Amino acid sequence: MTKKWRRRKAERDPFYELAKKKGVRSRAYFKLENIDKRFGIFKPGDRVIDLGAYPGGWLQYIISRIGIDGLLIGVDINPIKPFEEVPNVVLVQGDIFEEDTFAKIEEILGENKVDVIVSDLSPNITGIWELDTEIIYDYNMKVLEYAERFLERDGILVMKSFEGRRVSNITRKLKSKFRHVRIYKPKASRKRSAEIYFICMYYRPKSRKTSNRSSEEESVFIP
Ligand SMILES: C[S@@+](CC[C@H](N)C(=O)[O-])C[C@H]1O[C@@H](n2cnc3c(N)ncnc32)[C@H](O)[C@@H]1O
Repeated sequence: MTKKWRRRKAERDPFYELAKKKGVRSRAYFKLENIDKRFGIFKPGDRVIDLGAYPGGWLQYIISRIGIDGLLIGVDINPIKPFEEVPNVVLVQGDIFEEDTFAKIEEILGENKVDVIVSDLSPNITGIWELDTEIIYDYNMKVLEYAERFLERDGILVMKSFEGRRVSNITRKLKSKFRHVRIYKPKASRKRSAEIYFICMYYRPKSRKTSNRSSEEESVFIP
């Protein structure tokens, strides 16, 4: 990589350069930092599941927030380089759609649940907008299954999605499970990217019925 090319990339993407300077595994680190500073997601001692965790920028951020009394489970289809110096991070390699991945998390947690689930899962984009919207919808519904199985009452879910026609549908589903649902685009998200994050707080294990109308009215987009 030439110096000129690096300088151009840094000018276009200050978070790329910041990630290098800070020595973090990905620029995604700063998205989660933005989200946490805005919404107060983590606290020391939390138990957390990170879905789609490779290469590990979010894991690094979460470690810094939950400390050594917490537990962090990182899941990805790709192998994540272990954090040898941090004993409370457990890495699971697997496809989130496979039963076996679910079972591995059950094995780690036993009867315990977690305080926070974060998902930065990104499917391979086909470029066909309608198809991509459906794929991310399937991902989001699978993440919701993880929340239903592993999230503590009053727990928090942070989940990546894409702008598009499924957003109100996903919002409605989330609102039947969480008391507060917000849509947020962190500063560190690339401007041209369609990615958004659902910030869902106060998990309510029992389904609440919400009419379509109130869901639309309550869904708040925070720029
Ligand atoms: C944007 S990256 C995550 C970056 C990460 N949050 C970080 O901070 O470094 C999205 C990840 O989702 C993972 N992924 C996509 N589909 C998956 C699946 N079906 N099961 C598990 N992981 C998946 C990819 O392997 C990729 O590592």
